[in-house]
Amino acid sequence: MKKLLLLTAATTILLAGCSRDYTPAAGASGEDIFKAACMECHEAIEGRDNIFYELSSDKKNADYFAKKISSGSLLMPKFPNITGDSLKAVSQYALEHSADK
Ligand code: HEC
Repeated sequence: MKKLLLLTAATTILLAGCSRDYTPAAGASGEDIFKAACMECHEAIEGRDNIFYELSSDKKNADYFAKKISSGSLLMPKFPNITGDSLKAVSQYALEHSADK
């Protein structure tokens, strides 16, 4: 029972940490947003200048990025305040800095 309680507490903390309140400044470019919000965790792939992702063709589109940013995952926080043009701009920037898997 104690174990279950601990597990519940740990899960709650983990999930609560899964949203970032970062809000892009008005007029921020995709690059600005990427540097401020994403590069903390996503570094350039070793040996590749400014390439952050290697994606298979089914994922290599701006929609995939936008969904990931808006929804996050178990390991990646979601960014509810990156919306509209900012979401488009950062998705496009990330897409342009991705390589084929
Ligand atoms: C706190 C760390 C963290 C931050 C900040 C973060 N991510 Fe992530 N991201 C992860 C982790 C960990 C994964 C791998 C697990 C997964 O796919 O959910 C990931 C996966 C991804 C993937 C899937 C890549 C693939 O191979 O399919 C995309 C796309 C992505 N992140 C985009 C972004 C963008 C864009 C931002 C900025 C708005 C961002 N991430 C910010 C941690 C982070």
